[in-house]
Amino acid sequence: MGTPTQHSKESAQVSRSLNAVKTQATDTVSSVADLKTTLADEYLLLLKTQNYHWNIEGPLFFSLHKLFEEQYKQLAEYVDRAAEVIRAMRTKAPGSFKEFNDLSSIQEALADKASSHQIIETLSQDHTNMAIALKARLEDAEDAEETSAVVLYEDLIQFHEKAAWMIRSHRS
Ligand SMILES: [Fe+2]
Repeated sequence: MGTPTQHSKESAQVSRSLNAVKTQATDTVSSVADLKTTLADEYLLLLKTQNYHWNIEGPLFFSLHKLFEEQYKQLAEYVDRAAEVIRAMRTKAPGSFKEFNDLSSIQEALADKASSHQIIETLSQDHTNMAIALKARLEDAEDAEETSAVVLYEDLIQFHEKAAWMIRSHRS
């Protein structure tokens, strides 16, 4: 048995390490939620990009049709990576449009209305917004020391910033 001072030191240590475990658990829960939102965002952005690939019209048709095809194929790879990171954290990945719509704030596109000018503005803004949202999620993942999520977010931020720039470059 230790002296009263030793005893209170030990209990302070125990309560500090319990708090650390609690903080870590909370961080992991928020990392999983962020990853599910990311999967939903990227899937809806994939669909939106594919919609524009199919339906864009006008003088920029060929260039944007090709660019959007490249981008939705890259998005499909990121979607799959996000799902695999979620599964590695022993949680189920969302996989329905109902869940995606509930989780994501990406506004879906209606094909018949948009001009090529509106498509350029909408989609480049979506990519810019994603890069901003992902920077906050990256910070959370870094705090939770979730390395796979950190690497995924870094790659995604780079992808979205480049995608926004390439679409914006079609402005006349
Ligand atoms: Fe196609």
